[in-house]
Amino acid sequence: MQITGKTKIAGLFGWPVEHTLSPYMQNAAFLHCDLDYCYVPFPVSPGRLENAIEAIRSLNLCGVNLTIPHKEASLPFLDVADEEALAIGAVNTITNTDDILTGHNTDGRGFAAALQEQGIIVEGCRVLIIGAGGASRAIGYYLSRTAKSLHIYNRTHEKAVALASFLSRISGNTDIVQDLSSLSEYDIIINATSLGMKEDDPLPLDVNLLRPFQTVCDLIYRKTPLLRKVEQKGCRTIDGLGMLLWQGAYAFELWTGMHPPIEVMRTALLSIVK
Ligand code: ATR
Repeated sequence: MQITGKTKIAGLFGWPVEHTLSPYMQNAAFLHCDLDYCYVPFPVSPGRLENAIEAIRSLNLCGVNLTIPHKEASLPFLDVADEEALAIGAVNTITNTDDILTGHNTDGRGFAAALQEQGIIVEGCRVLIIGAGGASRAIGYYLSRTAKSLHIYNRTHEKAVALASFLSRISGNTDIVQDLSSLSEYDIIINATSLGMKEDDPLPLDVNLLRPFQTVCDLIYRKTPLLRKVEQKGCRTIDGLGMLLWQGAYAFELWTGMHPPIEVMRTALLSIVK
């Protein structure tokens, strides 16, 4: 990759950004498509987000991704946000078009694409999301429109109630569950909590309540202890790498207007993770 005076810079704002995998897939995609673009992570502390967003204009970046803790906080500093980002209340991709900064959210779409490429059809399925944070909101927004039913469970009950009431305004098929005793009733179960980030975390659900052929997804990139255990039960498993890939692919498309080279991006990610 040759950086020149014409190179367009895309970036990532997060705090911290040391462990991000996005540069591998984005730079591989730029190189593969012969695009004079470069993707650079920037550690932006929470108090500096507004300045950093203004710098997208000052430095003429073509756009950025946003990650923890900036997805929700960025909205007031943008010129426009698309319908999805506004509804979810969070932005994971900013585009800079002639100094107009637009917020997008490709997380939900990315998750739906990751399921689809594994042949999992959400239509007609009963879906359970465990967790009620930002990630749950993004994927719930997408799934509530296609699933037969969508249930939310969260450790902090009030947050589950708030998310379910937001989602039921989009589609009437959403509700909360009080506990996780009825796991066997779902076709697709999604762990959207941070449980599993550390190897010694407790499991987010009781694996003994699952039955074979259910699909269990974890938004964490690695094969978590949860996924390893449910695989032994005969369940289908989906880790978070597909969502990472597809949300990044949609961001690539927004910045370059080009069709993302999915397999190149996937290979770049797998070479780092496996
Ligand atoms: P993200 O943007 O990744 O969704 P988040 O908004 O911080 O991150 O949400 C984290 C989710 O993980 C929340 O649903 C949180 O539950 P609470 O609302 O009760 O905090 C859940 N979570 C985090 N640690 C947990 C734990 N030890 N047990 C159960 N749920 C946990």
